[in-house]
Amino acid sequence: MSTLSRLLKESWTLVEDQSDELAQHFYARVFLADPSIRDLFPINMDIQRSRFLDAIVRAIQTVEDPHAFDECLRGLGRDHRKFHATPEHYGVLGMALLETMRTFAGEAWNIEYDQAWRDAYDAMATKMLTGAAHDAGPAFWSAEVVHHQQRAWDVAVVTCRPLTPFEYRPGQYVSVETAHQPRLWRPFSIANAPRLDGTLDFHVRALPGGWVSTAMVRTVRVRDMLHLGSPMGAMVLDRRSTRDIVCLAGGTGLAPIKALIEELGAVNRSRWVHLFLGARNRDDFYDLPSLARLAARYPWLSIVTACSDDPSYDGERGLLCDVITRYGPWPDHDFYLAGPPAMMRPSLDAVVRLGVPLPRIHYDPQ
Ligand SMILES: Cc1cc2nc3c(=O)[nH]c(=O)nc-3n(C[C@H](O)[C@H](O)[C@H](O)COP(=O)(O)OP(=O)(O)OC[C@H]3O[C@@H](n4cnc5c(N)ncnc54)[C@H](O)[C@@H]3O)c2cc1C
Ligand code: HEM
Repeated sequence: MSTLSRLLKESWTLVEDQSDELAQHFYARVFLADPSIRDLFPINMDIQRSRFLDAIVRAIQTVEDPHAFDECLRGLGRDHRKFHATPEHYGVLGMALLETMRTFAGEAWNIEYDQAWRDAYDAMATKMLTGAAHDAGPAFWSAEVVHHQQRAWDVAVVTCRPLTPFEYRPGQYVSVETAHQPRLWRPFSIANAPRLDGTLDFHVRALPGGWVSTAMVRTVRVRDMLHLGSPMGAMVLDRRSTRDIVCLAGGTGLAPIKALIEELGAVNRSRWVHLFLGARNRDDFYDLPSLARLAARYPWLSIVTACSDDPSYDGERGLLCDVITRYGPWPDHDFYLAGPPAMMRPSLDAVVRLGVPLPRIHYDPQ
């Protein structure tokens, strides 16, 4: 472990059991230092569950190598243009973070910790600002909803058409804002490879009490406008690889996997693709007819469906992590995984246990 990483982790343990109060204090400092920053954040701010602070802390805790996450942070910086974040704002947030850490750690804080947090934050902010400065494209795109299809009681496929050209790679995701929940942006994966008419599909599951997902499934209508941030994410096809592919998709994690399969449809001649699609019960499979069409068109594609909580399901039963282990071994395959955290954690563990080297495991943390 590098010294920087050790110092960050060590100092975080001094405050982590007060993380809710820390978040309150941090935002109070930020908004006091520059009250105009308050307007950039959502009206209904759930400070305890701040995505922003979570991200900073998570990144700071995982800094092993300051050069890691370069592309990811540049992408995040490009995307932050939609929040109107300026270099001065980065300075204010960095200062508030340091002061908050000092206050909460109290006597145990020292100059080494101070420098470590300063260095880590500055490295991240610099990468984000570089990403933002080098992107001449729009800060966000407006897109008109052209199709809205309810596929299950809690799942909709929402199709929109950006008003200006929008380039992305299959497997990527974008932040989406609806007019119903201004300033609340949530990432959703694009579920198709680029089309001639420029339309994008999103597969959205409404979470109970979830602001944006519920609006996307229940309130958004055809002709509504959405805002889309810059495309992000590293789960794109490794086109140089000739290895066969295993895809694991849980629930709406199917979206980016489907985009990758569509991309493979244009370029693939020789790679077998095994898709394992998991859900709690059979009613949660919201896209089977479309998948059946893909399987009929592409002889290299096989699809296995598995239900974890449906004892009479006549396909596979159990969690995806157990199903792929039963179907293995997968000695020389590339892996692509997408789904909710409850599916991703055990699936990643299983893939690593199967001996798949990390560079061959592709996913974006959800
Ligand atoms: C890279 C990536 C790609 C994604 N792709 C997709 C996709 O393709 N399709 C998709 O459907 N989703 C996707 N997601 C998830 C999506 O971004 C949202 O997180 C999800 O839709 C929930 O957002 P929300 O605004 O509806 O819920 P939020 O309002 O953020 O709430 C989330 C959950 O927390 C609960 N909650 C809210 N406040 C509190 C509180 N104070 N205390 C306790 N619990 C609380 C809510 O009830 C809800 O269940 C993706 C996420 C990531 C990171
Ligand atoms: C190193 C610095 C920073 C990091 C690592 C960081 C990281 C993040 C991440 C990961 C998110 C959630 C993803 C998203 O919604 O797109 C987020 C949200 C956000 N960030 Fe940043 N950010 C940084 C600096 C800033 C600055 C300087 C501003 C502007 C003042 C800013 C404003 C916001 C806003 C408004 C949100 C949405 C908050 C919400 O939805 O609750 N961020 N940030």
